[in-house]
Amino acid sequence: MADSKAILASWQANADAWLTAVREQRIDSRRVTNAAVLDAIKAGAPRRVLDVGCGEGWLCRALHDDGIEAVGIDATAPLIGAARAAGAGRFEVLGYDDLVADPLRLGQFDGVVFNFALFEADPSPILRAVRQAVSPEGRLIIQTVHPDRVAGDAGWREERFAGFGAAFPAVMPWYFHSMAGWERLLLDAGWRLIHQMAPADPAGGLPLSLILIAEPRPD
Ligand SMILES: C[S@@+](CC[C@H](N)C(=O)[O-])C[C@H]1O[C@@H](n2cnc3c(N)ncnc32)[C@H](O)[C@@H]1O
Repeated sequence: MADSKAILASWQANADAWLTAVREQRIDSRRVTNAAVLDAIKAGAPRRVLDVGCGEGWLCRALHDDGIEAVGIDATAPLIGAARAAGAGRFEVLGYDDLVADPLRLGQFDGVVFNFALFEADPSPILRAVRQAVSPEGRLIIQTVHPDRVAGDAGWREERFAGFGAAFPAVMPWYFHSMAGWERLLLDAGWRLIHQMAPADPAGGLPLSLILIAEPRPD
């Protein structure tokens, strides 16, 4: 997909800035959204979780600390290098296309998570692929931008990472999906939305993110 290429090129360019922003805790909202996604995953009591678009691996490390086996994949090699260097968990340089081509290459999981890592206009192929890799009682957790924080209709936007506390050399294209859009995408890819959450800033204001939790629809 042409849009995947542009998205991945931006991550190659932004890898160092992202690593700094995450490791130095420069993204304020993450204090809330990290805890929220961890709670959402642990609510399903998984034993083995696939972290898709894992970046520098913080979520796999947190799951590992809770006794949960975690496998992280990401196409941005420098981020996987940083994840491996930090320890816990298994990390592989893989694009979503690689998983689409062979959904069971990393085995079966009872949890699959995308933490701010789905940016395509049509993520159906990867959503279908992870549907194949998840056990019947498993869950899919997606954390993404809350629709209340985005003006206008579904469509392409540009992320400039303003306020992330580090200089990001590349603009990242990303597709804004409405709530109805997410529901349709999940249904079409074989998932049933069972829960949605909007983690809030304790200081008030708009929700900091949207968390979608889905279970596989029976074949
Ligand atoms: C905003 S970062 C989030 C990283 C991590 N999930 C976290 O919470 O810190 C998005 C990540 O998704 C990865 N990514 C985006 N599209 C991808 C694709 N098609 N294949 C593999 N990785 C992808 C990028 O390389 C980047 O590391």
